[in-house]
Amino acid sequence: MPKVKFKVARLEGGRSWWQEYEVEVDKYTSVAVALQRVREEKDPTLAYRPLCKMGVCGNCAVKINGKPRLACLTNAVEAAEEGGGTITVEPLDNMPVVKDLIVDRSDFERRMLSVKPYLIPKDEVLASDKWYPMPPSVQMDLWSAAQCIWCGVCYSVCPVAEVDQSYSAPHGLVKTYRFAYDPRDALGKKRIYLSEESLWKCVMCKNCDSSCPKGLKHALRFERMRADDIPKPHSDYAEKAVKHVIATVASLARYGRADEVEIFTSTGLAEAALDALPRLLRGGWKRKPYRPRPGEADRRAVEAFRSVVSGIIR
Ligand code: SF4
Ligand code: SF4
Ligand code: FES
Repeated sequence: MPKVKFKVARLEGGRSWWQEYEVEVDKYTSVAVALQRVREEKDPTLAYRPLCKMGVCGNCAVKINGKPRLACLTNAVEAAEEGGGTITVEPLDNMPVVKDLIVDRSDFERRMLSVKPYLIPKDEVLASDKWYPMPPSVQMDLWSAAQCIWCGVCYSVCPVAEVDQSYSAPHGLVKTYRFAYDPRDALGKKRIYLSEESLWKCVMCKNCDSSCPKGLKHALRFERMRADDIPKPHSDYAEKAVKHVIATVASLARYGRADEVEIFTSTGLAEAALDALPRLLRGGWKRKPYRPRPGEADRRAVEAFRSVVSGIIR
């Protein structure tokens, strides 16, 4: 049987180093299985935890020859050829390394949980004991959006997730899509404006798109959500406004003047004002997300390039 050479990034107790192993493989062996063989036959101190070995659990995700992917779906012989005879294995980026190839996924999971990644059934769905009809095209679309296995590959290559803790990140946004267009979901499209900040923080670099092992087509889905101009419901505000009037009248009757503190706290408008404050400070209540027209980004890039070049020539 042929042997392949591994160069594995190790980290333990603050010390990091590269360690090399040679493993016998056949033409069917995956990188995950080969690394498990290393653990079982050569070095039990190597920390790595592939589970299903069939692209379902997402636990085996690592960087192989510098590219994040599922080790169980990566052929060891082909990876060795790609790496010029050596397979380089490192932990995923954007997540703190706990030991060797094990990363701390809590931040990744926090962002996923922040978008409520589950169906919240409408009352009528709960009340009915019948099948809920769904057009096949919608069903197929949602089915493909539901293929995420929480592997963390997209998250590890997202430049915005790296710098912005409040960003729901590609896996969170694609999960938003999964339930926003589900006709059974009580939140439905409200999920889109709940994720609006994150949707517009995405810089559309498509790193997530090109690296997702399940081919979730993030960019297409983000574009659809961005284009779906969901009007923000003002019912909340209307309800608060009514409460505000009632509280004002009550205050006038009680004190002969409008006690603003009591009115604000009793109607919840203080909370709304506090919510809006960051937006107001950033440039006004009516600020709309910037949407480049097709071709405009290219034109502006060419213009910027020209002005830089003409500055150098001058
Ligand atoms: S969207 Fe794709 S890359 Fe991201 S966590 Fe899900 S399966 Fe992994
Ligand atoms: S396209 Fe958006 S979500 Fe995907 S990696 Fe780039 S910035 Fe992150
Ligand atoms: S081991 Fe489960 S996805 Fe690779």
